[in-house]
Amino acid sequence: MKRLTWWSIPVLLLLALAALRASSSGDAGEDQALTRFDRKILNDARQAVVQGRQIFRYDTFGDEAFWGDTIKLHQAIQGARFGGVGPGVSPNTALAVGLKVDVDALPPAVIDRLKSGKIDLDDPANTLVLLKANAVVGVTGRFDANGRLRTMGVQCALCHSTVDDSLTHGIGHRLDGWANRDLNVGAIINLAPDLSAVANLLGTTQADVRTVLAAWGPGKFDAELLLDGKGFRPDGKSAATLIPPAFGLAGVNLHTWTGWGSVTHWNAFVANLEMHGRGTFYDPRLDDPVQFPVAARNHFGHVRSEPDLISPKLPALHVYQLAIVAPAPPAGSFNAKAALAGKRVFEGKARCAGCHVAPTFTEPGWNLHTAQEIGIDDFQANRAPDKRYRTAPLKGLWTHTKGGFYHDGRFATLFDVVNHYDGHFNLGLSDQEKVALVEYLKSI
Ligand code: HEC
Ligand code: HEC
Repeated sequence: MKRLTWWSIPVLLLLALAALRASSSGDAGEDQALTRFDRKILNDARQAVVQGRQIFRYDTFGDEAFWGDTIKLHQAIQGARFGGVGPGVSPNTALAVGLKVDVDALPPAVIDRLKSGKIDLDDPANTLVLLKANAVVGVTGRFDANGRLRTMGVQCALCHSTVDDSLTHGIGHRLDGWANRDLNVGAIINLAPDLSAVANLLGTTQADVRTVLAAWGPGKFDAELLLDGKGFRPDGKSAATLIPPAFGLAGVNLHTWTGWGSVTHWNAFVANLEMHGRGTFYDPRLDDPVQFPVAARNHFGHVRSEPDLISPKLPALHVYQLAIVAPAPPAGSFNAKAALAGKRVFEGKARCAGCHVAPTFTEPGWNLHTAQEIGIDDFQANRAPDKRYRTAPLKGLWTHTKGGFYHDGRFATLFDVVNHYDGHFNLGLSDQEKVALVEYLKSI
């Protein structure tokens, strides 16, 4: 080895100092250690999140062709007074069916008038004001040069965002990924004057379609209706399922209540088949004429559109979906001491962690179970290709207590869920253990 020369000692000292400073200065130091390609990855991820957010909130994928041009929902919103049909939809009616208003899209003058009660929320004209400001979450109106509502489209944010009610109930800052459990999708679609296209797809009457939609209720939608045509379960209840949260999904293998596929499979599915955007979708599992008669008849597993307004957006939309972390519960919303005891029950005696594995709270791997395993009926499971239920990720349960738990909200409270497992798995939990378990569920 070469011997140290007189000048190498201060140089080495300087190098050591620089290394020390880099290691103690957090992000900046890490950045210095990054290669150009590392930095490109970071920048690309940031850019994809920003693009994906824009798509999630504002992209209609060309679905105006359905919501406006086909079922003519915009005419009902506009009302006869402004060239549509019927009485029109007032802001109060819109809020009552669970639509949300993005306060950050409103001009300051409108916010002031809202605060001082100077906007008549019973006047449908003011719904048009909100739509013109692009302030109705998940709904975009397209106006012509004369200010008439020409058509409309919907976005992912319609069902998968809500607001924090900062101004008043239903009006506030956006919360992307939070399930809108106030939203009555069935009632909204039922406002549309012409559901003949849906009736034709299903091979039934408009009256029958309207009966099915009216039975959905708040917080629910039926993503399988246009595949199998089943509006009701054998017990006579609606076949619709709850809108699940769309946060905390990174690291989770299969998605939807019944594990249809990956996040990006489902994003393409929804944009093409539910929102009726224009894109490409391939899923030959839908060719099964027994399980999916409507989808098989209409070749829903083989969709191609020119131009394709969906596929180019899937990468950024995917990244955005995975980037939405489940929100932490507010301080004081659960009993911390009981939650700690509940964690021990969850991981021990109650064996919940056997399926709900932290930190995703679903199984790493093929996260599906039969109906018998979890002790419920198999109606909804049988409407999906694998005929199973997906182990629901449990983070952020506190954001969607409205509408109940499990895919159809059959358990009104977390305590009911715990009682179900206690009976089904013969766990022999004491009341105190059940209470602790619920506090833990509220804390994750
Ligand atoms: C009309 C309401 C509605 C709209 C609009 C909507 N979704 Fe959904 N979404 C649902 C419902 C209901 C489910 C549950 C479906 C099921 O399990 O059968 C769901 C499920 C999901 C899931 C699975 C979540 C999980 O727990 O794994 C993702 C991801 C998702 N949607 C993303 C999107 C994206 C992206 C868009 C826009 C392209 C979108 N959704 C548009 C209602 C909607
Ligand atoms: C055999 C696997 C399995 C075990 C064990 C299990 N779960 Fe589940 N869990 C599931 C599945 C599957 C679902 C989805 C049910 C559905 O979609 O209707 C679910 C759903 C839930 C939900 C509803 C989530 C929502 O968004 O509505 C809660 C809460 C829950 N489990 C808590 C628990 C607790 C607490 C325990 C222990 C007492 C437990 N689970 C044990 C598989 C399991």
